[in-house]
Amino acid sequence: MKITFRNFRITDAFTDTMGSVTVNGGRIVDVSPESEARPIDGLVFDGGGRLVLTSGFVDMHAHFREPGFSEKETLESASLAAARGGYTSVVCMANTKPPVDNEAAAYSIKRRADTLGLTRLYPAISLTEGMNGKKLSPYLEAEPSAARAYSPPLLSEDGKDVEDDGLFSAALRRAAEGGHTVSCHCDLGGEDAAVDRALRLGAGCRVHIAHVSTKGAAELLRHHKKRDPRTLLTAETTPHHIALTCRDAATSGPETFGKVAPPLRGEEDRLALIEALKDGVIDVIATDHAPHTTEDKLNGAPGFSGLETAFTVCYSTLVKRHNFSPQKLFSLLSAAPARILGLSGHGAIAAGNNADIVILDTECETLIDSAMFASRGKNTLFSGRKLYGAVVLTLCGGRVVYQSPF
Ligand code: DOR
Repeated sequence: MKITFRNFRITDAFTDTMGSVTVNGGRIVDVSPESEARPIDGLVFDGGGRLVLTSGFVDMHAHFREPGFSEKETLESASLAAARGGYTSVVCMANTKPPVDNEAAAYSIKRRADTLGLTRLYPAISLTEGMNGKKLSPYLEAEPSAARAYSPPLLSEDGKDVEDDGLFSAALRRAAEGGHTVSCHCDLGGEDAAVDRALRLGAGCRVHIAHVSTKGAAELLRHHKKRDPRTLLTAETTPHHIALTCRDAATSGPETFGKVAPPLRGEEDRLALIEALKDGVIDVIATDHAPHTTEDKLNGAPGFSGLETAFTVCYSTLVKRHNFSPQKLFSLLSAAPARILGLSGHGAIAAGNNADIVILDTECETLIDSAMFASRGKNTLFSGRKLYGAVVLTLCGGRVVYQSPF
């Protein structure tokens, strides 16, 4: 269907202008300054000169829980949560039951998500068989040149470190031979030591450091990137690590509702992460959406549901409080992850790109209420907080997948 968005502030990592955008057949077909307004056919949305139009967000790190943990989340509830949060592409992690360690399992999840048509889902595949840390996964064992029905944009053992140095290094090398980026969960012996180890063992490989949370890890990344500006090293942090500290975890139950891995840290760490985002040491914000049942949270399962609050949390924290430009924010949420994942046609509002678009109201306030989440996981420390900004509409492949009732 042909839809024209006129009178919008079009802002992405590369442009910031008033204008109109037309989509048709799943693609952006036209981007024009408002002064070039022409006769319009098809459906028209008017942004009133106030609403922001940007490229769909890309999440490098979420847990969709299927197969095996549908009491926590389903492909459908997570995909709806993604659409509500403005996410049009999501990588889901492999720590399911059974773990996703082969191409057929990943492809079948992808096909089911494609049928829902709510977000573009890219299941990550684990580094080791059954995530057991003993043997390379069937995916990595296969010939890198083998013809594939599905080639994941990211491999990861997220939730765990691969403890054996030899195996971890073999996995990193094997992944690099196949052109894959590996997202490294770094916890073994403490985050700073684990990041140091991933940088050492992954030298020359495409290493992406997941959920950076400490000042020390940010310093290591800064040092490494300065020494080798052409490095393939990239990193992410999360909305909760830039907005909250261990004091927030303490008041919500450090071993229950406030528990997340890596844990919420001190104020000095939080500010160091924001500095690292500002100067490009950390490239991406990823949600680490980790839904659990209330019972599981009471039993100490780590994680927060993050897809539906990420934009408002990041906008409030980075743009409102720390003077980031909206363009920089959209680079962190869309252009940079699209680039790292190699998703061409994503991450920018440009003719020819996929019609993956989010409309945002950046002037309103939103009261977060996790009871309203589409996600089955209702645990977030942001519930009850008033934050800036709201997702008004999400378009994935030219189809409206979410429209705010307000
Ligand atoms: O808080 C977390 N939850 N961190 C992880 O690394 C794993 C995740 C999960 O799967 O629940």
